[in-house]
Order: sequence, then structure tokens, then C-alpha cells
Amino acid sequence: MPTYTFKLNGKAVTTTAPSDMPLLWVLRDKLGITGPKYGCGVGVCRACTSHLDGKEIQPCLVPVRDCAGRRVTTIEGLAAGAALHPVQQAWLACDVAQCGFCQPGQIMAAVALLERTPHPADADIDMIENVCRCGTYHRVREAIKQAAGRG
Ligand code: FES
Ligand code: FES
Repeated sequence: MPTYTFKLNGKAVTTTAPSDMPLLWVLRDKLGITGPKYGCGVGVCRACTSHLDGKEIQPCLVPVRDCAGRRVTTIEGLAAGAALHPVQQAWLACDVAQCGFCQPGQIMAAVALLERTPHPADADIDMIENVCRCGTYHRVREAIKQAAGRG
């Protein structure tokens, strides 16, 4: 089986896996990174949303071979030590989470949106397709606006 090395949340990791194994499986089952959630496995629910080289991805769709030598960031790598990312702070301030299952993916999608569009309009926020079965969408929107600095 081939071996792959990539940077995971700032640290180099090496894993042995079939080349077509989805990154989500590698993260959760081989590397113990369980922030990205398994919901659908086919790129629809977006509960697994993470970043590859700073861009949003759904790791259930990305084979591990495509991550070699690149930077993978999950919710576990978002905070700078004890200092939460501004989006995480806004999430807490707006008390967004309900059951929490979709929330790592929601936050990673929000961070990616704000990096692309620092002051998103409602229409930009509506482009986020992450599913929340608890219906926290209005609080997600509020938190994104707060993180964007327009309360
Ligand atoms: S588990 Fe990846 S999009 Fe649903
Ligand atoms: S908070 Fe429960 S699925 Fe989103």
C-alpha cells in the first residue's frame, strides 16, 4: 500500500492507505481526527467540510493521493493555540450549535466564505449548502455576519 505525507493542521503526518481511499476515512479512521463528520459520503451533506491548501473541500470526495505534499486543515486546526478563530468566537456568541453534528463543517464553510468574500451579502451566505438537520440556519447567518464585523 502506498504511503502519503501531508501537513495536517500544521504538522506533517504520514499514512499508509489505498490511493483511492477518501481523505475523510484517513482523517477519521487512521489519524484520529474526528471533527470532520461522516454524513453522506457523497459530497451532499457537507458535514465533513475542511480545507485543502486553504480552500474548502469535502474530504469524502477527495482521494488521499490528491493530498500528498499539501496542507489539510480541519476544525481541530482552526484555533491559534488557546485563541479561537473569530468565526468560532462568533459561533459561541450567537449560540449557533444545537446537536452539533454539522457544526464543524458549517464553521469551516463559513471561514472559507469569509476568506473569499470578507463582507458577504445574504445571497453569498445562501450559497453555503451545508445541511443542518436541527435548522440552525438563521443563527449560522447571524454568526457569519458578526464574524464579518457587521453584526
Ligand atoms: S460526508 Fe462529506 S459531504 Fe457528506
Ligand atoms: S446542529 Fe444538529 S445537525 Fe446542525
